[in-house]
This record gives sequence, C-alpha cells and structure tokens, in this order.
Amino acid sequence: MTTYPHGDSGDFTPYSVRPRTEDEMLERAGAFHRLMAERRSVRTFSREPVPRRLIETAIATAGTAPSGAHQQPWTFVVVGDPSLKREIRVAAEAEERVNYEGGRMPDDWKEEIARLGTSWQKPYLEDAPWLVVLFEQRFGLDAAGNKRKHYYSRESVGIAAGLFIAAVHYMGLATLTHTPSPMAFLSRLLRRPANERPFVLFPVGLPTEDAVVPRLTRKPLDEISIYT
Ligand SMILES: Cc1cc2nc3c(=O)[nH]c(=O)nc-3n(C[C@H](O)[C@H](O)[C@H](O)COP(=O)(O)O)c2cc1C
Repeated sequence: MTTYPHGDSGDFTPYSVRPRTEDEMLERAGAFHRLMAERRSVRTFSREPVPRRLIETAIATAGTAPSGAHQQPWTFVVVGDPSLKREIRVAAEAEERVNYEGGRMPDDWKEEIARLGTSWQKPYLEDAPWLVVLFEQRFGLDAAGNKRKHYYSRESVGIAAGLFIAAVHYMGLATLTHTPSPMAFLSRLLRRPANERPFVLFPVGLPTEDAVVPRLTRKPLDEISIYT
C-alpha cells in the first residue's frame, strides 16, 4: 500500500527526477550558469519581428513557476500593436520625465542608477516587437465579483518573472526588466481589472546590432552565500 506523506486528502501522482551522475549534474549546472551569466538587460531593441510562438513559449515557461497555494496569480498581457505600444511609450515617458526632471526621483536613487545611462526617454517601448506586461493578481476575482485571498502573490509573480527572463534569454532573445514608475497607466491602457497590479513591463526582441550595456560586475559567490 502506498503511504502518502501529506495525509490522505488530495490527488497524487508519482514523481521522480531523472537519475544523473554527479559529473553530468556538474556539467549541466556549469552550462546553465554560463548561459545565465551572459544575460544582460538591453535598452536598445531592433525593430526586427519576432515570432509570436516564442513569446507564447516564454510565457508558458513562466507559468510553470511555483506559487503560493498554487494560485498562479499572474496575467501576462502581450502587446504587439504599434499604436498601443506608442500609447504605452508616451505614458511611460510622461511619468519618467517627472521622475528624472521633475524632482520625483530622490538624489540617492539618481546616484545609484547613474552608471546605467538611463533617462526618461524610452524608445525601446516602440522599437521592441513585443511588450509583455506582467500583472500581479493581488486577490482572485470571479465573474460574479467575489474576492478570493491570494497567498504570497508578490513572491510568486517575482519567481514567474525570473523564469520568463531566463526563458527569453535561453531562446536567444533579449529583454529589459522595466518598471516605469508609477505604473498605474498600464492598468488603464490595458484595461485590467481592479485585482491586478502592474508588476513589470518586459520589452522583448533582439538587441540592435550596435547595442551596448553598462560594464557591471556581479557579486562573488562568497558575498552572496553563507554556509553555516
Ligand atoms: C525589479 C527591477 C526593476 C527594474 N527597473 C528598471 C527600469 O525601470 N529601467 C531600467 O532601465 N532598468 C530597470 N531594471 C534593470 C536593472 O537596472 C538591471 O537588471 C541591473 O542594472 C543589472 O543589469 P543586468 O540585468 O544587465 O544584469 C530593473 C531591474 C529589476 C530587477
């Protein structure tokens, strides 16, 4: 008789990971790390079209993320229409202009991002063939308007965002984790319901041929991990 570790409720199916040798695991771990270490945030995108199927697959990968109580509290809104991309750019630039030039961005924040070379101008919001806007469902809302509590929606959506970024990079495309602040204009332009809050705006496409990225270093392992 099978013994279930979590009591006798629920519907379970056998699960095991494929057996691998330690060498094989080390090889895969290293290969994946090398691949991810090459990922960079891109801020100049080519206008070259990208097949919709790739975006769908990246979102499907993001949708495999673990989530609090398996509530999957995410909505990915995909924008390819040039006029809607333009509207998003105009609205994002209006907010970011106030941040950069209207005094809304505190000086210490300005200092922190100075080396990234960013400004209020966001041409990539029109150049990138796709904008993928990730919304966090802060609570559930059924058709009758009944609310359902969501557990750890912020953490869950953050993990889904990470998987989306990894998927986009793995397939050979580029993205930027963009959070034009405040992002309420995205709810308005994309007509999202009251339970959803904009989380990140991802332009997705290919970098321009002359793209550059800021020279940055990443913290070494001994600074980001502790074994006790
Ligand atoms: C939550 C979050 C918000 C970010 N928001 C912006 C943004 O609004 N604009 C921008 O140009 N970069 C933004 N970035 C990108 C970071 O600047 C970038 O990840 C960081 O400089 C490291 O560079 P890399 O992604 O190339 O490794 C954001 C990143 C994160 C994780």
